[in-house]
Amino acid sequence: MKALIVFLVVGASAAILAQAPQSLPGSGLPPLDPRVDKWDKGPDKIDVSRYPPDIRQKYKVFADLCGQCHSLARAVNCDFVLDEDWERYIKRMMRRGKGLVTPEMARQSYEFAIYDSKIRKKDLYEQRLKEAAKP
Ligand code: HEC
Repeated sequence: MKALIVFLVVGASAAILAQAPQSLPGSGLPPLDPRVDKWDKGPDKIDVSRYPPDIRQKYKVFADLCGQCHSLARAVNCDFVLDEDWERYIKRMMRRGKGLVTPEMARQSYEFAIYDSKIRKKDLYEQRLKEAAKP
């Protein structure tokens, strides 16, 4: 009986590990992609003190949501800037975290992210916009 329980616990842990292609939260392992590793090591918050109140409110939802499965730093420092980058990524996370990410959380996080990208990552945003407009 004891052996069966051990077998089940080990099996379940292995199944959880197999699902995470990149760093498992709490595992202490760095993500496989060095770019993502760098993002994880950057600042883990955004100074929103000069943003309008409604955006500051949405930041709370963003910070809450995007820090759930990995460090919030990853979400803060990533190179997503264009509206469609954010839409694609947030939709992917909604599928991944079934039930965890409600449509309302997704909408508010998206609205925060596209506002923030145009200010905090202005140069990258403009560069990507130009690249996207090239034929
Ligand atoms: C349901 C869990 C979950 C939530 C919630 C989540 N992430 Fe992720 N995220 C992951 C996993 C797992 C990975 C590892 C790579 C993969 O499988 O896509 C990842 C990878 C990333 C990456 C690395 C680049 C890439 O495309 O894989 C970025 C950037 C990122 N997340 C940002 C965010 C942001 C911003 C939010 C909030 C809108 C967020 N994450 C919310 C689970 C989550």
